[in-house]
Amino acid sequence: MKPSMACGSLLLLTWFAVLGFLQAVTLEVRERNSTCIKAELSALFSITYNTSSNSRTVQVPLPNTTTVDGAGSSCGSVTTGIPWLVATFGPGHTLGLSFSANGSFYSVAALMLQYNLSDSSVFPDANSSAVVTVESASVGIWAAMNSTYHCVSATTVVAGGQTVTFSDMRLEAYMPGNDLSSAETICAADQAPTTTPTTTARTPITTTPAPTPPGTPERGTYSISDSNGTVCLLAQMGLQLNFSYVSQSQNKTVQEIFNLTPNMTNYSGSCEASKAALVVTQGTTTTLDLIFTLNSTANKYHLSGISVLANWSDMTAPFSAGNTSLDYLRTTLGRSYMCNAEQTLAVAPSFSLNTFRLQVQPFGVTTNQFAAAEECQMDQDEMLIPIIVGAALAGLVLIVLIAYLIGRKRSHAGYQTI
Ligand SMILES: *[C@@H]1O[C@H](CO)[C@@H](O)[C@H](O)[C@H]1NC(C)=O
Ligand SMILES: *[C@@H]1O[C@H](CO)[C@@H](O)[C@H](O)[C@H]1NC(C)=O
Ligand SMILES: *[C@@H]1O[C@H](CO)[C@@H](O)[C@H](O)[C@H]1NC(C)=O
Ligand SMILES: *[C@@H]1O[C@H](CO)[C@@H](O)[C@H](O)[C@H]1NC(C)=O
Ligand SMILES: *[C@@H]1O[C@H](CO)[C@@H](O)[C@H](O)[C@H]1NC(C)=O
Ligand SMILES: *[C@@H]1O[C@H](CO)[C@@H](O)[C@H](O)[C@H]1NC(C)=O
Ligand SMILES: *[C@@H]1O[C@H](CO)[C@@H](O)[C@H](O)[C@H]1NC(C)=O
Ligand SMILES: *[C@@H]1O[C@H](CO)[C@@H](O)[C@H](O)[C@H]1NC(C)=O
Ligand SMILES: *[C@@H]1O[C@H](CO)[C@@H](O)[C@H](O)[C@H]1NC(C)=O
Ligand SMILES: *[C@@H]1O[C@H](CO)[C@@H](O)[C@H](O)[C@H]1NC(C)=O
Ligand SMILES: *[C@@H]1O[C@H](CO)[C@@H](O)[C@H](O)[C@H]1NC(C)=O
Ligand SMILES: *[C@@H]1O[C@H](CO)[C@@H](O)[C@H](O)[C@H]1NC(C)=O
Repeated sequence: MKPSMACGSLLLLTWFAVLGFLQAVTLEVRERNSTCIKAELSALFSITYNTSSNSRTVQVPLPNTTTVDGAGSSCGSVTTGIPWLVATFGPGHTLGLSFSANGSFYSVAALMLQYNLSDSSVFPDANSSAVVTVESASVGIWAAMNSTYHCVSATTVVAGGQTVTFSDMRLEAYMPGNDLSSAETICAADQAPTTTPTTTARTPITTTPAPTPPGTPERGTYSISDSNGTVCLLAQMGLQLNFSYVSQSQNKTVQEIFNLTPNMTNYSGSCEASKAALVVTQGTTTTLDLIFTLNSTANKYHLSGISVLANWSDMTAPFSAGNTSLDYLRTTLGRSYMCNAEQTLAVAPSFSLNTFRLQVQPFGVTTNQFAAAEECQMDQDEMLIPIIVGAALAGLVLIVLIAYLIGRKRSHAGYQTI
């Protein structure tokens, strides 16, 4: 692909992502004039499919023309089974959520995504025309009965290797009335210690035209468990976002270096056989999404996707950038990846991620601990420097010693002749 074309499609992808997040969709399941499930949300799908020559990833927003499928949806009862919210859009694309409850809480029991590869406007050059269905049973959305689940932060669900990212979500099932309950269950990601960290953590741009760099970010510790409660992804790292956006107050593009502060962030994630995701959220306005992929034939994993979503008050539009065909931190399965040195991971023209003192293991974690590490080249080079300096010093000492000994012998001989 020509560089200019790659740049173009990346911009388009970013543009889609922004649009996708901006489109709020309202979905309602009713039976006999009363509403039992209601959702107001934005969703963005990241779907990888095969063309005849390679694999491609598209970002598909849930459009605001989405409708609830009356036949597939159900309020659930003894006779009709579990409650389902089934939404359809385009030619045969479907998003489904099923619910379960246990008296005091209800939760999304499963997420189902169905997409029609024949839709060439969304999946150009697909070499299959199949309708693909993927599912996930670890969604992590739950709320107290008779309350509305409320989550402004982005939540990513991985299903069959594809991802669904929800944001600005209000949802209720088993509704006691016809509208969303005023009582709310706020998701963990929105309950950051500081609710507006981006406004407190950033230097006020209006008074400092050239903001000072924030220094090295603190190291955070992240641990994700699978549906059985077994730790499946471990990470320790300092994270720094470097992106440019159009500032409202300055009326121009500004370069922002933003450190994620571990005690002001929340995180979530999921693990599957060949995909694992870590989503780090700071406050309600900054979300970083990392996706790891395992190639089980090669027995290697790598960081394949990075995306960021930021919605700061000074931005003219929410900033969104990502790339799902990256190849960073490549490591052998059964090992962790380590890099103490600063690494710059380029993602998009307007966004890169800097990592510091990093160790990750997204697959094959046993006994809640990192396996032996494969270290990055930069660390190995750094370790070489003391060795080289040491060797050079030892060599120098040896030369001086030999010279001294020879000198001594010569001078001895000299005395004897006199
Ligand atoms: C961004 O923030 C504004 C104001 O806080 C809000 O109205 C808007 O819905 C947010 N957009 C996204 C995509 O979250
Ligand atoms: C549903 O509402 C319509 C109009 O509001 C009414 O005519 C109808 O009788 C209602 N049906 C039931 C089962 O309550
Ligand atoms: C793409 O093709 C590869 C190789 O045949 C296959 O393993 C993979 O499952 C396919 N992916 C999709 C999304 O169909
Ligand atoms: C589609 O392409 C992949 C490789 O990209 C190949 O493995 C797969 O068999 C192809 N599928 C069909 C139906 O042609
Ligand atoms: C898939 O898309 C094609 C082309 O848009 C359409 O003809 C077909 O009916 C769709 N399949 C389903 C199951 O809706
Ligand atoms: C009900 O489900 C919630 C969330 O899924 C869980 O935390 C709670 O322990 C469950 N309560 C009972 C009584 O099973
Ligand atoms: C929820 O509300 C309904 C109707 O108001 C009530 O019958 C039920 O006991 C409530 N359930 C809980 C767990 O509060
Ligand atoms: C959870 O445990 C069951 C039974 O031990 C096992 O079959 C299943 O594969 C496990 N699931 C995961 C995600 O590890
Ligand atoms: C941030 O990105 C810009 C543009 O790519 C680059 O010039 C700058 O050196 C980067 N700064 C840091 C601290 O990474
Ligand atoms: C922002 O800058 C552009 C040119 O760079 C100018 O045309 C526009 O009027 C400015 N807007 C404001 C609100 O200052
Ligand atoms: C976060 O940690 C920093 C330094 O470790 C500390 O100064 C700050 O008060 C902490 N903030 C919160 C909200 O705990
Ligand atoms: C996995 O690795 C093998 C061997 O290196 C390679 O041929 C294959 O294309 C890789 N598969 C994917 C999906 O990247």
